[in-house]
Amino acid sequence: MKRVAILISGGGSNMVALVRSMTGDHPARAVLVASNDPEAGGLVKAREMGVETAAVDHRPFGRDRAGFEAALLEPVLAAKPDILCLAGFMRVLTPDFVQRFAGRMLNIHPSLLPKYPGLRTHQRALDAGDAEAGCTVHEVTSELDAGPMLGQARVPVLPGDTADSLAARVLAAEHKLYPAVLRRFAQGAREPLFLP
Ligand code: GAR
Repeated sequence: MKRVAILISGGGSNMVALVRSMTGDHPARAVLVASNDPEAGGLVKAREMGVETAAVDHRPFGRDRAGFEAALLEPVLAAKPDILCLAGFMRVLTPDFVQRFAGRMLNIHPSLLPKYPGLRTHQRALDAGDAEAGCTVHEVTSELDAGPMLGQARVPVLPGDTADSLAARVLAAEHKLYPAVLRRFAQGAREPLFLP
């Protein structure tokens, strides 16, 4: 059974989808949900689902990213994860941290990478007049949003869409894609999965 730790920064709806998926014959179990924001709504949801949580506030560390990551590593390493899932974790990790989990850290990004790495993905898709949008699960490397792709789900951009309406449609696709990719990844598969 693979042990999965999940890093979040906010509401954690992807984290909830991942935790809920890891039951029955699933080859993995959630062992920790950790956040850089002690107020992250997802921490409460994780505890309600019976998953251990940890919070390491990044703010007292200022620009000391290595110091923040050293503090974050304590609960993460204590949980002995085989796989680390970033799920709406909004801090950029240093190459040192990434290297430590090379080949076993996943991220979900709300665009059809390689389009729109970084932030404001939905507005950028609308501004470009794209006919479709979506989300990507990829392995994390030290290059932002650029690691090997493990899965992608597409949704249409509809007339009258705003960044918020498009984000909601993409988020619903994220909740299907990330659990499906994690299940395959925990079984050792590295071929990309394309949904729907
Ligand atoms: C999701 O849309 C996720 O793809 C995005 O943040 C949201 C988190 O929602 N992640 C990024 O933009 C990473 N750069 P959630 O907290 O409800 O899962």
